[in-house]
Amino acid sequence: MTEQFDFTTTEHVVTPTSQEQAFSEATRAEAHAIVARYPESRSALLPMLHLVQSVEGYVSKVGIEFCAEQLALSVAEVSAVATFYTMYKRSPCGQHLVSVCTNTLCAALGGDEIYKKLGEHLGVGHDETAGEPGAEGSITFEHAECLAACDFGPVLQVNYEYYDNQTTESATELVKSLQRGEKPAPTRGAPLTDLRTVERQLAGFFDGDEPAANDGPSSATETLRGARLAQDEGWTAPAMPESAEFPPVPERK
Ligand code: FES
Repeated sequence: MTEQFDFTTTEHVVTPTSQEQAFSEATRAEAHAIVARYPESRSALLPMLHLVQSVEGYVSKVGIEFCAEQLALSVAEVSAVATFYTMYKRSPCGQHLVSVCTNTLCAALGGDEIYKKLGEHLGVGHDETAGEPGAEGSITFEHAECLAACDFGPVLQVNYEYYDNQTTESATELVKSLQRGEKPAPTRGAPLTDLRTVERQLAGFFDGDEPAANDGPSSATETLRGARLAQDEGWTAPAMPESAEFPPVPERK
């Protein structure tokens, strides 16, 4: 089941009832807490969209309007942000989000093949969900641009946690275990939870599990190889000059 809608309209008016149904008093209090972190309320938009997504499983039209109301922004302004960033989803997501890197390096190392095999296994394409959204074992599937882990390619992420050096077999086994309700440990980083929990964390709420407790090893031999080589060889970067002259700024006409 998916629910798609048009973010571009600004004419839809949400009755208070629908926002009340969607967002509890507790969520409203958390929205206020997010706003209080910033000198300008509009700066709270990105974490607030994550909060909305943690509640709804995606960012609905009602969610867009909730953010607009909380931050005194227009629906169009919030829609522009929510539709720009791929982390904000426009239809209900599964318990887990599986993102396969298909950018150049990972693709060449097998990422394209992994994406194809997982799509066949799940029976869905990009940005689609296998299973009932939110139900245990349901998976939203997507291909992603470079996940900033090229030294471990091909990589995929589950709820933004890394699974490095994948093969079609290891990736398929990983997805099957998610479908069975298991939570295999990521290669590095925090333990696997589920997408809504991660969305709460991205909104800044760790529910007693403070950020430090979620830390895990984030570098490996591959990551540090260049730095180690430079150290062994005694290579250093040229010193930064005390002052540098910037090119003149062209005059505005
Ligand atoms: S190309 Fe896949 S992580 Fe960079």
